[in-house]
Amino acid sequence: MAGRDAYVTNCARCHGDAGKGDGPDAARMIPRPRDFTTGAYKFRLTASGTPPTDEDVFRTISTGLAGTRMPGWEGLSEDTRWHLVAYLKSLAPNLAQAQPQPVASFGKDPGPKGADLAKGRKLYTDLGCAACHGAFGRADGPSAKTLADDWGQPIRPANLTHGWELRGGAEPRDLVARLMTGVDGTPMPSYGDAVPVADLWQLAYYLRSIQESARWNAPIIPTPAAALPVAPDDAMWATVPRADVLVWSNVYVDGAIAPTTVTWAMVQAAAAGDQLAIRIAWDDPSEDRGSPPDQLALAFKPAVAGREVGSLQSWPADAAHGGPGAPALDLTIWSAATGAARAAVAGSFDLPDTAESRPAQAHYEHGRWSLVITRPRPGAATPLALVIWDGGNGDTGRRRSVSSWMDYQEKENAHAIP
Ligand code: HEC
Ligand code: HEC
Repeated sequence: MAGRDAYVTNCARCHGDAGKGDGPDAARMIPRPRDFTTGAYKFRLTASGTPPTDEDVFRTISTGLAGTRMPGWEGLSEDTRWHLVAYLKSLAPNLAQAQPQPVASFGKDPGPKGADLAKGRKLYTDLGCAACHGAFGRADGPSAKTLADDWGQPIRPANLTHGWELRGGAEPRDLVARLMTGVDGTPMPSYGDAVPVADLWQLAYYLRSIQESARWNAPIIPTPAAALPVAPDDAMWATVPRADVLVWSNVYVDGAIAPTTVTWAMVQAAAAGDQLAIRIAWDDPSEDRGSPPDQLALAFKPAVAGREVGSLQSWPADAAHGGPGAPALDLTIWSAATGAARAAVAGSFDLPDTAESRPAQAHYEHGRWSLVITRPRPGAATPLALVIWDGGNGDTGRRRSVSSWMDYQEKENAHAIP
């Protein structure tokens, strides 16, 4: 059978030979690959609790799901994708009985000009979205930590400010579809019956307005300042360009990937004389000053780093595995336990007693840390990277989120290609 063959070749390593979501690679991902035997599908344009249409399944297979390990399969022919739809449906006996009930109408898009953000904000509050998603959508609501899905796995509410990781899409029409149909198999309810669709559009435009306008792959160039903005809420920061970066965890604990809660950070820089203030903001669903505390390490590659540190993901594994010792990095480590930062050029995150203290100010508000570290300017262009530990997620030592190297420059490149 064509569907079965394509499934075994492309899908079974994650979704399992019998479609139970238990393939050999499954333990290494959060969320887990779908178990197709229960018939519950998250992303549908059908009423809550009813099966997906064939088009719904075809769409997910074709585009994949942002923010998860489910890739898009546009490389497979359309015929093959339709065969896969039929094969997946055959794995869930209950799908043969239940009828999909496509949503008849998704109402009328008022367009950006017809959007009433204050009304959308009020609906967000009145409908209780904050209990799970947090007051400002950063996945830090009081219920966020205790939710589970129908497959028995813990599940986090979506961070609604991270448009790029919304699985069902970030446009207002995608958000209206999610609100009308819910996300079956998860605690995300459907609001299609309870709320008029015109209101759901206003809510969707509000959600669109709180999505971060990230600048990916931007260089970090300090803005000249008369006086260093050492407080995270200094008014000057509103005028300083940002550089955004994804952070992720790839650390295996007992053969499974350590579930990460911190997935994004934003960096800004300002300079006065030879001093540099670096502001870093990141979303973390809980403020943890206890044990283990929230922590952040800011790493610069010294001009002569010796051996190359390709990624902080494995650093400083060299030494741990009996190697010659990890190349030293220029580290500043801040801890929420003390509120202080310490710095040294070191070959591991355990800084020596001789580490200097560095001025640092941080505040935590509605699921977001903002931290300013003040330090001498590096004096030359150098790569910079972040390591972030969420104490509330049990992060400590090698269980952490890391960024790739970002580009720090002392000033705008005079020789930029026109
Ligand atoms: C690298 C791992 C991986 C591979 C390979 C993979 N998937 Fe997935 N798939 C996932 C994950 C993870 C999810 C769950 C995402 C979520 O829950 O948000 C998923 C979810 C799905 C869903 C669920 C959609 C819904 O609405 O609930 C469908 C359908 C699907 N995959 C089909 C396929 C098909 C067909 C193939 C092969 C052509 C395939 N997948 C290959 C990881 C994978
Ligand atoms: C009981 C907890 C709970 C409540 C209340 C709740 N949500 Fe959710 N929501 C979730 C969870 C959990 C997910 C993640 C589902 C997943 O990742 O598969 C989610 C997902 C979403 C998504 C889809 C994100 C994506 O990846 O495409 C949107 C949009 C959303 N919620 C908006 C809202 C809005 C707006 C409200 C209020 C009207 C609300 N939610 C109320 C728990 C909740």
